[in-house]
Amino acid sequence: MNAAATPTDAARTVVPVIEAVNLSVGYGRIPVIREMNLSVRPGEVVALVGPNGAGKTTTLNALGGYLPALSGTVRWKGVDASAPPHRRAKDGLAFVNEARSVLRRLTTRQNLKLARTDETACLDLFPELRARLDTKAGDLSGGEQQMLSVGRALASNPVMLMADELSLGLAPKVTERLLIAVRAAADDDNVGVLLVEQHLNNALRFADRICLIISGRIEFDGRPAQLKENESSLVAAYLAGDTDALREIAQGSQGS
Ligand SMILES: Nc1ncnc2c1ncn2[C@@H]1O[C@H](COP(=O)(O)OP(=O)(O)O)[C@@H](O)[C@H]1O
Ligand SMILES: [Mg+2]
Repeated sequence: MNAAATPTDAARTVVPVIEAVNLSVGYGRIPVIREMNLSVRPGEVVALVGPNGAGKTTTLNALGGYLPALSGTVRWKGVDASAPPHRRAKDGLAFVNEARSVLRRLTTRQNLKLARTDETACLDLFPELRARLDTKAGDLSGGEQQMLSVGRALASNPVMLMADELSLGLAPKVTERLLIAVRAAADDDNVGVLLVEQHLNNALRFADRICLIISGRIEFDGRPAQLKENESSLVAAYLAGDTDALREIAQGSQGS
């Protein structure tokens, strides 16, 4: 072990905002995610990456209280979490799901009002939404819809933000804006962030920690720097969906 303390090491002494402890979750009796240990601390951005079908969405839904545990526990602010999702939302858990969950027939302004969001705070984050306040959310571009989802979530002053496939189908410029906003929420407001990010390079650039999940198991949990040496082969295996190679690289990088 390297004796030099890193910010991540220091953060390990802080109670996680959210934590999976030996968590197994599935849709019947068969677990999709198995004995998972994963934690996010205040001010930390954790990127959950992995091939399609690995269990990323399942993980977020389980942590958010939308799926029951088969075994193991979810801890919220250090305590076993049993509250239903709407109670956790009131307690500071913001969730941006794959579907972006904007109400398409309502305008941008109405979407913000319905969520009791501070409109100004959202517009400060994404000023381009100002000109779209009276546009139906269904008529917004994909990028604008995601800005509305993320802006709405961050303007609610969350303790924790979970976002599934934040950048799916979006232009790189828009993705960059979203990731910068999320990073700032962690850095400036101490928000804990768990992102599912399909683009490995974005995860490596913006996250404090990367958790690589393959077939329901976390095969790597560490700092992006630990992956630096193997980055090109990792990206190649990731893009090719070569899970054996991914697993091997992940396990080889874990101790570095
Ligand atoms: N509602 C569901 N019912 C049954 N199986 C599901 C359901 N949702 C996902 N799965 C299965 O669980 C596994 C993990 O899915 P998911 O968490 O969506 O993966 P990811 O988000 O990493 O692509 C996949 O094998 C998928 O087929
Ligand atoms: Mg998914």
